[in-house]
Amino acid sequence: MKGGRLKTCVLISGSGTNLQALIDACAAPDFPAEIVLVISNRADAGGLDRARRAGIPTRIIPHKDYASREAFDAAIDAALRAAGVEFVCLAGFMRLLTAGFVNQWRDRLINIHPSLLPAFKGIDAVEQALAAGVSKTGCTVHFVRPEMDAGPILLQAEVPVEVADTSETLHDRIRQAEHRCYPEALRLISAGKVRVDGESVMFSE
Ligand code: GRF
Repeated sequence: MKGGRLKTCVLISGSGTNLQALIDACAAPDFPAEIVLVISNRADAGGLDRARRAGIPTRIIPHKDYASREAFDAAIDAALRAAGVEFVCLAGFMRLLTAGFVNQWRDRLINIHPSLLPAFKGIDAVEQALAAGVSKTGCTVHFVRPEMDAGPILLQAEVPVEVADTSETLHDRIRQAEHRCYPEALRLISAGKVRVDGESVMFSE
């Protein structure tokens, strides 16, 4: 952090409960990050209202307005730079980012995924866990690399799978863990306690 709070953007596509957890954490005056922008690729994302209620600037950048992934990512990159963003959190952002964008924001871009990576990559991670019959799953916060749901792992939390679980009940339980992990990950990074060394994450006091 170059003095002051780490200027953070959250990218969303949906309900934004993880965005809300980050907003709530950033409301503490001593939290070392602030959310300066929320970007959604969908105009109807519920998370946009959460941002507006918190007085955070929002941008809607519909992917359908762009002829290519590269052009869409360039529009996101331009919005981030215009807002002076230093760090980006993906929170239920349902678009694959190009390698060019990911490399541009390398080690300044994190994601949260509803499984214990490297298990159950992809959009149906919760359903995959149920189908596999595992007794535990969880969530992972990781630095983003061009490959989907890959990159140095920052934090993980384990969640039990109950016999009667549906994907909804299990995802709800995973979200509760996510809402603890994601703010903690952003806190550690913005307090300068995390260093990425190649594909490993190192923590310092
Ligand atoms: C979360 O489960 C996250 O792990 C995944 O998408 C979901 C987003 O949920 N990437 P929400 O919009 O934050 O409620």
